[in-house]
Amino acid sequence: MTGAAAGPRPKPEENPAEAARGLRMPRHVAIIMDGNGRWAQRRGLPRGLGHRAGVESVRRVIRGSIRLGVRYLTLYAFSTENWRRPPEEVSFLWHLLGQAVAHDLEDLYREGVRFRAIGAVEELPEATQRQIRLAEERTAGNSRLYLQVALNYGGRREIVEAVRRLAAACRRGEIDPAEIDERRFARELYTAEIPDPDLLIRTAGEYRISNFLLWQVAYCELWVSDVLWPDFGEEDLRQAVEDYSHRQRRFGGLSEWPGDAP
Ligand code: IPE
Ligand code: IPE
Ligand code: MG
Repeated sequence: MTGAAAGPRPKPEENPAEAARGLRMPRHVAIIMDGNGRWAQRRGLPRGLGHRAGVESVRRVIRGSIRLGVRYLTLYAFSTENWRRPPEEVSFLWHLLGQAVAHDLEDLYREGVRFRAIGAVEELPEATQRQIRLAEERTAGNSRLYLQVALNYGGRREIVEAVRRLAAACRRGEIDPAEIDERRFARELYTAEIPDPDLLIRTAGEYRISNFLLWQVAYCELWVSDVLWPDFGEEDLRQAVEDYSHRQRRFGGLSEWPGDAP
């Protein structure tokens, strides 16, 4: 391993779970959880049952992330474009989310998970918002696994809102446009507090980003799995992480893993 020891990227030996397995671990894993509908369709079931089965995969992946020593896990659960689905499917998804959070909150708390929603949460149904706030408050003191769930999240929207806030601050004379650099800009994103994802997993075999973490994935490693989300489990996560651990990340340089991303 070469490069700067400073910066947010931890060295392998700094992560005990990783050291135990000899893997170079991603600190932050982001997942586009796709394929619930196809999973249901293949069984002749309504799409809602695919989403319900997908909740079990979320539980497995949270467990797996804790076991592997992943510190940050970001799950894409609902995009700003998912409102285009039939209203019954959309309201079922919010119902399911509220139910899952209420059911799992104490377990998450005990496991040391810190829950946070990212996205335009203020547009979600009131009951869902209350559930989210409760979970965020309950787990605010935890730090074993930072779990971010992207709800009504759109990467372009996130960027546009950041631009709007910075422009307003400039107009008020609080900042000089010349001060706005990548670091300052990133502070306006939902993910201001956390490092960029190292590994992006997409299930159900689709090779696209679908408006997820557009800014943050600049140098992320990609892993597409054919497995449909409701069939995705700890072993699939482990396989993705294992593959990641053999990747060469160069961040535009020539040597392997030359320190922190740009
Ligand atoms: C992912 O599964 C869950 C959400 C986007 C909410 P899909 O519902 O997109 O499943 P497919 O793509 O139709 O199979
Ligand atoms: C991406 O899946 C969004 C989520 C997983 C929440 P979609 O199923 O909405 O993506 P597209 O429509 O296939 O690009
Ligand atoms: Mg889909």
